[in-house]
Amino acid sequence: MKEAILEVLRRHPGEYLSGEELSRGLGVSRTAIWKHIQALREAGYQIDSQPRRGHCLLAVPDLLYPEEIRAGGRLGLFGREIHYLTEVGSTNETARSLAEEGAPEGTIVLAEIQTGGRGRLGRMWVSPFGKGIWMSLILRPPIAPPAAPHLTLAAAVAVARAVREVTGLPAGIKWPNDLLVNGRKVCGILTEMKAEVDAVHYIVVGIGINVNLRAEDLPPDVRELATSLMMELGAAVPRVRLAREVLSRLSELYSLYLQEGFPPVREAWKEMNITLGKRVKVSSTWDEYHGTAVDIDNEGALLVRGEDGQQRRFYAGDVTLRGS
Ligand code: BTN
Repeated sequence: MKEAILEVLRRHPGEYLSGEELSRGLGVSRTAIWKHIQALREAGYQIDSQPRRGHCLLAVPDLLYPEEIRAGGRLGLFGREIHYLTEVGSTNETARSLAEEGAPEGTIVLAEIQTGGRGRLGRMWVSPFGKGIWMSLILRPPIAPPAAPHLTLAAAVAVARAVREVTGLPAGIKWPNDLLVNGRKVCGILTEMKAEVDAVHYIVVGIGINVNLRAEDLPPDVRELATSLMMELGAAVPRVRLAREVLSRLSELYSLYLQEGFPPVREAWKEMNITLGKRVKVSSTWDEYHGTAVDIDNEGALLVRGEDGQQRRFYAGDVTLRGS
């Protein structure tokens, strides 16, 4: 009912709707309307209530409430089951537990703060309250495990498109899935899966976007390498709108992937990437390789032409961009 009241108030911006009208329209008592309006206020909605005029929605809170993200969005698969948590250890962990319990494909876990946010290669991921988008998606695609990186690349494309649309910033993808703005990282993606040799049970795609962090929110050792959308833009970025754009773009691209396979994702990734054509250093735990990034293959692996003209294929690794 709270959602229904909000929906009506939202449809009449700047207008006062009487308790009478709301109660008639929604088929509940005026007392119930009043109670729900109070609850909405407690949740951070600014609603002005005047004795003879009624109620008017003045402002919505900057929190990632599922009803806000759903409002006006075309979230498709990702609008069905959204778990919103104020605080969590890691949304990837929560998503994994939900997936183990049978949560359907498309389930989303979102949190305002992560106390144990995780990055790739066992690193930590700083996730302060209300300043980023910390979310994980459960997917159950009918693919074999080697194809799982396709989905990480698709997620990077969706975030890059959404960031460009909402902020106008020149976001580009560094292989495989880091999003950089002006040379610094604003988003990372951590994909984890449960699979057998020939079938994926589920994939958790964890997306972390540094939206409104300030320099002091980042640990000193990552300030050189990381930034936030707000720091690059010089103005706060609406998190709800950005989350909605990411989900609707990913929903579109994921459907396309299920119908047509990797080619359209590969093309989209190539359009948004800032890796190909550059001189790169690819580091793994045991090796470092220097060369020019030339392409990604059908599995999403990076092809690098070394100084000796030989081409090597990387399925994993950390890429440092060194210019063209
Ligand atoms: C990286 O190292 O670049 C990947 C960072 C991924 C961070 C996101 S935030 C939401 C989800 N939950 C986590 O604990 N990690 C991912």
